[in-house]
Amino acid sequence: QHISWDVSAAQKGGFKHFMLKEIFEQPRVIADCLAGRVQRGSERVALPELEAMDAPERLFIVACGTSYHAGLWGMYLMEQWAGIPTRVEIASELRYREPVLGPGDTVLAISQSGETADTLAGMHLAKARGARVIGLCNVVGSSVAREADVVVHTQAGPEISVASTKAMCSQLTLLTLMAMVFGQKKGVLPADVAAHCVPALEGLPALLDGILPALRERAKELCRVYSEARSFLFLGRGLCYPLALEGALKLKEISYIHAEGYAAGEMKHGPIALIDPKFPTFALAPHDGLYPKVKSNLQEVQARGGKIIALTQPGADLDVDHPWEIPAAWGPLSTFLMLPALQLFAYEMADYLGKDVDQPRNLAKSVTVE
Ligand code: G6P
Repeated sequence: QHISWDVSAAQKGGFKHFMLKEIFEQPRVIADCLAGRVQRGSERVALPELEAMDAPERLFIVACGTSYHAGLWGMYLMEQWAGIPTRVEIASELRYREPVLGPGDTVLAISQSGETADTLAGMHLAKARGARVIGLCNVVGSSVAREADVVVHTQAGPEISVASTKAMCSQLTLLTLMAMVFGQKKGVLPADVAAHCVPALEGLPALLDGILPALRERAKELCRVYSEARSFLFLGRGLCYPLALEGALKLKEISYIHAEGYAAGEMKHGPIALIDPKFPTFALAPHDGLYPKVKSNLQEVQARGGKIIALTQPGADLDVDHPWEIPAAWGPLSTFLMLPALQLFAYEMADYLGKDVDQPRNLAKSVTVE
């Protein structure tokens, strides 16, 4: 009997594409990122890499692409949990400015590959000015890992698909831990975070694992409904704003459908002019403190005939064309359940439209030129 076999199919572990495999690896990625860093029954988080340093007085996060979106998300936790004034910079912008940056400042360079030219240049600028550089990086031995003063590894394993998925999940996990560690060091970590975050993190892999197949099915259904859209608006507030940017980026990258990510409250300053029945909105509307605000933004979309897909949670009372309910997780950890929904929506759309998912045109996995 002849069994057909090829290396690439074997590497994909039964999945049609590397991207799908990597999306489904995220529960394991979270577990690996937590291993040795959190302990059952203990509120404390240990990141030995950061042991010797004080919490930053202010923090500049520097990155590109998906890593930049992870950085933006991290800013919210650095501020709320550790009281650290934080800015997030697109590396190709920072490197050509005259940023007010010097000894006493800390730069956090986030890069999956550790080889992105602009991110490295941002690091070099920071070092030349005497700032301390922390690298958050997936590839051991990469340039970011070698050149940073301190490196924290993300432990996502090799990411093959050009569009980054599990690497972002690992970056968000580590940013959560770093914000906790800095909050602990300064003694300002909010009590509810100290009490709830570690157990909630430990529960995440199983929770995510349990919902991934259903997320994929819903993504499949919805992409068929919207496959003729030429353009999409992604909206979110707070922690969901960086996620809206990432959802739009994923859709652009692999399905070639134009998409724009916007802060929901900023919609009235421009994008609202575009809303019509052919310009759908993908909203992130978890049932958190910002829910009423997002809900009223969505009513503005509906008043103009715009169609809406909305990621929501139990308890939300949204009346939209396509609600997509996902379970709630503790606080900011809901992000880890919403992100795969966005990734799967882009994935299923690209696959349905027959695009080359793992190697989208014009894009490179690691951009080592300016
Ligand atoms: C390229 C990739 C993106 C990635 C970005 C930053 O554009 O296609 O997926 O987010 O580079 O890469 P890095 O390796 O620095 O995270």
